[in-house]
Amino acid sequence: MNIANYIKFLPPIPHNAGMYDVFGIFRNNKEATFFPVVDGRGTVVGVVREYNLKDYTYGIFGRELIKRENISRFITKSLIVAMDTPLEEVLRLSASNENPDGIVVLKDGIYAGIVLNASLLWLFEENRKQTRARLLQAQKMESIGTMAGGIAHDFNNILMPIMGYAELLLKFMKKKDAAQISFINQIIVAAERARDLVAQILKFSRHGSEEKTRVSLEAMISEVLELVRSSIPKTIEIRVAIETKNCTVHANTTEIHQVLMNLCSNASHAMRERGGILHITLSDHTGPILGWSEDTELPQPPCVRFTIRDTGHGIKPEILTRIFDPFFTTKKQGEGTGMGLSVVHGIIKGCKGVISVESEVGVGTAFHIYLPAAAPAPDGKPAAFGDEALTLFTKHINILYIDDEPMIASMAKEMLSFLGFSISSVTDSRAAMDIFAANPLQFDIVITDQTMPGLTGLELSRKLLELRPDVPIILCTGYSEIVSAEMAKTMGIAEYLIKPVDFDKLKRTIVNLVNKAEVK
Ligand SMILES: Nc1ncnc2c1ncn2[C@@H]1O[C@H](COP(=O)(O)OP(=O)(O)OP(=O)(O)O)[C@@H](O)[C@H]1O
Ligand SMILES: [Mg+2]
Repeated sequence: MNIANYIKFLPPIPHNAGMYDVFGIFRNNKEATFFPVVDGRGTVVGVVREYNLKDYTYGIFGRELIKRENISRFITKSLIVAMDTPLEEVLRLSASNENPDGIVVLKDGIYAGIVLNASLLWLFEENRKQTRARLLQAQKMESIGTMAGGIAHDFNNILMPIMGYAELLLKFMKKKDAAQISFINQIIVAAERARDLVAQILKFSRHGSEEKTRVSLEAMISEVLELVRSSIPKTIEIRVAIETKNCTVHANTTEIHQVLMNLCSNASHAMRERGGILHITLSDHTGPILGWSEDTELPQPPCVRFTIRDTGHGIKPEILTRIFDPFFTTKKQGEGTGMGLSVVHGIIKGCKGVISVESEVGVGTAFHIYLPAAAPAPDGKPAAFGDEALTLFTKHINILYIDDEPMIASMAKEMLSFLGFSISSVTDSRAAMDIFAANPLQFDIVITDQTMPGLTGLELSRKLLELRPDVPIILCTGYSEIVSAEMAKTMGIAEYLIKPVDFDKLKRTIVNLVNKAEVK
């Protein structure tokens, strides 16, 4: 008999059976063997040998109920069966007995164990499979992430001179020829597309660290729906249910925007032929998140649970474990890159949340996102965010620029001097240290790469800040395991930019920092 069929017989799970408290399992061979199985959060804490339902009877133990003093109390409310009663018989008896708390199993007339509820057998089996699958998925994502992050880093270093020199070429061209300008612009556009793709890969591998603020998911949903409504077919109805007052999380607005857009566009793609309903639900979630393995860090309650459900074509079980992989797509060439869900996954992980998916072919798909709810703001107001206005600089700005890649260092020199700054560009971080130490006040700003032989950007910054604590430093980095925006900030580094930095952004950052330093 298929194990799922047993469920049909089963009485409702008694509350004290503790769905989350399954703790041991024994089998009815000569000696009952106890294996710890699943702990209070549904996490496998031990190993269970292969078992076969037909040959053995299983008992599952609740942690407290195992205590001796509880046994007699428990027996009075329970069905009592002999150790060798076949499972089917136990199930039949427990179904006919009105709400038994559990089944006490006796062996030779002596207490041998308690079957709390046979449906737990099924839950356990499901849980074991899911936990294993999730663990494998987590490990796979981790290794793909590391690899992708490494490639993105090298790629950025290649892209930076392509973009920079194309821009320089455009600016220094003697004879302005329309065709040539358009060719160079094509190079820049292509390089920008590559840069955006690299940025997505970095986001997936959690190395793109965006600044986080308090974000209201409710507000974000209405903002995104404005956009989505105009772009999806009229045959798709959108239903929104906000079932919680606290929808504030700690995240980055651009990233949450991206998460919502990706999930909505996937849902709409799945319903584009037959139409359907797109449900967006926000609710509180306080209980444990069932079935997650200990290896995945779970968000601490209270959480905001946020669901995007569609009634589209669904996802086949055999590809369900691959949908979060970068570049996995079932769309036609040109319709999708397959980065959508991997970026979503990376962003949610970066917000200390988790994402899960349920899907049935022909019925639809639901993505659930659990994010830790943000504590209320002390002043009751949402935090401000956004680009600081660019104020024009009037003063002459002196820059110390350090990058160990000679090509990048020389390009930066040309570009920044073209923008009107004075720049000393150095490829050796120790030499940079000496130049700075000779006269710490001569530079208005220091821009440094992170990954360099000798002193890393962070080490160099630490030393420069010792010499002059108020020196504005911009740390440029591709991919790095250790450096995070927060860490750089706590060290006193003024700004943190992810490579390849476009020169417009760099210019704005420089001007903003110098202006700030002037005000002080
Ligand atoms: N709501 C959904 N319904 C059905 N299938 C889905 C849904 N969401 C994702 N998928 C499946 O997962 C695959 C990967 O999704 P993902 O968002 O990562 O990439 P994509 O949508 O194919 O491309 P991109 O997002 O880069 O445009 C999709 O190609 C599709 O097969
Ligand atoms: Mg997508």
